[in-house]
Amino acid sequence: MKKNIAVLVGSLRKASYNLKVAKVLQQLAPDALNLTIIEIGDLPLYNEDIDGDNPPAAYRRFRQQIADSAGVIIVSPEYNRSLPATIKNALDVGSRPYGKSVWSKKPVATITVSQGAVGGFGANQHIRQTYVFLDMQPLQQPEAYLGNIASSFDENGHISEKTKQFLQHIIDAYAELVAKFS
Ligand SMILES: Cc1cc2nc3c(=O)[nH]c(=O)nc-3n(C[C@H](O)[C@H](O)[C@H](O)COP(=O)(O)O)c2cc1C
Repeated sequence: MKKNIAVLVGSLRKASYNLKVAKVLQQLAPDALNLTIIEIGDLPLYNEDIDGDNPPAAYRRFRQQIADSAGVIIVSPEYNRSLPATIKNALDVGSRPYGKSVWSKKPVATITVSQGAVGGFGANQHIRQTYVFLDMQPLQQPEAYLGNIASSFDENGHISEKTKQFLQHIIDAYAELVAKFS
């Protein structure tokens, strides 16, 4: 049976390169995986006062979707040399209520995508820092920093063969990690 994998995209803009990369990953995923992009833009900023017995519907929906997934892939831009608030908020929402985190033991891949040359290295490292306390199982190698991403897509929106091959390498390694922890 296929494993459901939740894909979180850190950019909310319609023409997002991160979203484009996430969609390419969906196409490249091996048969064992079914990648679904999970909405995170509607999650209210985490606030303990609105959580508890009657959390916002978006919190409940998001937590259930992650709980029902065998793993997670984060595809994110870098904002000011760190992770965007979208991803941090999603990680925080999923980590509560205390003791009921939905992240525990989930295999996770981290792919950062940037129009700049550095490929979101800062964001990638800061996202990974959260996995230690969240007790996730990160894909350590290969690392995935996609820089100068605009040059990876042609005017028709097709991805270059080189970038496609790199993403294939990443998703295949991630599928092995998921198989190991299932
Ligand atoms: C608030 C903000 C901060 C940014 N900071 C960085 C940064 O630190 N490093 C970087 O490489 N790009 C940075 N960028 C540029 C993004 O890499 C670029 O906008 C990228 O296309 C965002 O991903 P998207 O296309 O998926 O929206 C920043 C963009 C914004 C809006």
